[in-house]
Amino acid sequence: MAEKAPNEVGEPPSVAALSIAETATTEPPKAKEQVIDPWSVEAGTDEQGNTLAFDYEAISKKWATRLIDQALLDRFTALTGHKPHRWLRRGLYFSHRDLDRILDCYEYGKPFFLYTGRGPSSDSMHIGHTIPFEFTKWLQDVFDVPLVIMLTDDEKALFKDSLSFEEVLQFARNNAKDILAMGFDKKKTFIYSDLKYTGGHFLLNAWEFSKLVTFNQVRGAFGFDASTNIGRIFFPSLQCIAAFATSYPEIWGDDPKSDVRSKKTAAIPCLIPCAIDQDPYFRLVRDNCHRMKYPSPKPALLHCKFLTALQGAGGKMSSSNPNSAIFMSDTPKQIQKKINSHAFSGGQETVELHRELGGNPDVDVAYQYLTYFEDDDEKLKVIYDQYKKGELLTGELKKMCISLVQEYVKGYQEARAKITDEVLNEFMTPRKLEWKGNPNPKKKEQKK
Ligand code: TRP
Repeated sequence: MAEKAPNEVGEPPSVAALSIAETATTEPPKAKEQVIDPWSVEAGTDEQGNTLAFDYEAISKKWATRLIDQALLDRFTALTGHKPHRWLRRGLYFSHRDLDRILDCYEYGKPFFLYTGRGPSSDSMHIGHTIPFEFTKWLQDVFDVPLVIMLTDDEKALFKDSLSFEEVLQFARNNAKDILAMGFDKKKTFIYSDLKYTGGHFLLNAWEFSKLVTFNQVRGAFGFDASTNIGRIFFPSLQCIAAFATSYPEIWGDDPKSDVRSKKTAAIPCLIPCAIDQDPYFRLVRDNCHRMKYPSPKPALLHCKFLTALQGAGGKMSSSNPNSAIFMSDTPKQIQKKINSHAFSGGQETVELHRELGGNPDVDVAYQYLTYFEDDDEKLKVIYDQYKKGELLTGELKKMCISLVQEYVKGYQEARAKITDEVLNEFMTPRKLEWKGNPNPKKKEQKK
């Protein structure tokens, strides 16, 4: 049995407690700890005010998640017959909760589903947004299971004063098209806007869940205070209950009009791939799901790191800063220019020095992006070694990076052009989904 933190959500009573100590006690006043919660993600700084890289092991430890290890990846391969995705192999997805239990389900052919989402705060998606969805699509292909994608337009309108509900509804539709360009299987995927879908069993679950959680419990985890608008306080209930299978009666062929939710459906477990900053929501679910009238198992989680901004480690790609990220609407020229002029380099000042001292691929953004897109581990290793030795120059490295990113964005843009309103409407219609799961499940559960 996986050991459990005494109380996964209740432990940190204040926002300050959610940040993690970068270093031990004697910090000069200028050093700042990293802050990670669903609404603020900021790397720490050192005494000189320099931005530090995120400390993912520290956050995993603080929140009592498990780091993904080789044994878990080996089991994944043995069960699914698939080599782990490069984003798993390279630790972009670095932490989990109960992934082993989802693998148990897969092994024995028991149903489970995937749940992920996006807060549609703007019309511009960048690679930091698309990578998690591409990974989710891969999981869906490998496991052959249903997937729900939640668009939290309500969240964005509630948390951003300048955004109207009309605007976020529009963003949700456009973002949904962007997401569907990843190639999700229509038979197995339901994508919805909170503002449009909320009702029925989904809303019933949200109200029931809200009755189980006090303001005191969410105040710390989400940084609410007495002047927070009441919409924001209720919202976590929605993001949480989206992990319950009963929130989608249509998917499982249950009657959405019935006043009674299905107990059997409630027992279907959920796996949530998400960035680590979303974990506070799901700790709340894990702490309370057994208290629902129709209890659901604790959702499993697969956590990813933040994708590196062009400016380097410690930065986060941001829609409001065009130079921080490669946008999915960028032209090949723009991509080339951005990487050449903004990608933080681990190379030396001059070619001579670089040849002599070698570069630092670990902080080099062009190299980081190569790790996102180059699938060949051997090839990547050669590039790493050559750069470190100074045999490969920054310009050469950037060139490789540029062509891979251009290719990725081009493929995406072609797929995006095919997502019409009709296609979108089909994916957004609540309906029965079709999937097969493990084609060769083990017959009987042997007692361990
Ligand atoms: N709150 C998330 C955001 O702002 C969106 C979201 C909703 C989500 N449900 C999720 C993300 C589940 C990951 C997994 O982007």
